[in-house]
Amino acid sequence: MTTNNKELVVEKIDNGTVIDHIPAERVFKIVSILGLDKYEDEILIGTNLCSKKYGKKGILKIKNKYFNQEEIDKIAIVAPTATIIIIKDYEVVEKKHVEVPERIHKIVKCINPNCITNVEEIDTNFDVVNKEPIRIQCHYCEKTMEEIQFQD
Ligand code: CTP
Ligand code: ZN
Repeated sequence: MTTNNKELVVEKIDNGTVIDHIPAERVFKIVSILGLDKYEDEILIGTNLCSKKYGKKGILKIKNKYFNQEEIDKIAIVAPTATIIIIKDYEVVEKKHVEVPERIHKIVKCINPNCITNVEEIDTNFDVVNKEPIRIQCHYCEKTMEEIQFQD
């Protein structure tokens, strides 16, 4: 990603993860659901950058951080177009598209206050009825939701 061959918009990293092709308006949501606001190593953030494919995109480069599957699922729920790029010694060693899971176990809250998952200590479970735009349905109370609220 260069501007007229003069400069790199967001500099390369030596080791860590690049989350690319994030819809611009979701960048800070990703930061918060991954708890990156408390991360102590370097993070490079770019947003509202021009992308041929997606119009405006965001990018996050997190030094010395590699995400587990649960974290990658969270990224997919918020930014289904995202690409995860693993960097080691400045080289791209892996590049993969995130995939919205068929089911979401824990991580998301049911918005129905009377749902058993909000009354008792029961893990939430949702079926993903539509991936983009996302629509999920609670396994217990059958409430469907398009706004995703993550558990703390
Ligand atoms: N990247 C990085 N640090 C590196 C290597 C790559 O931050 N040491 C970033 C690049 O800036 C880019 C992404 O990782 O955002 C993918 O790198 P690369 O495959 O080299 O770039 P492109 O070919 O431009 O990828 P794409 O067309 O998929 O955007
Ligand atoms: Zn419910």
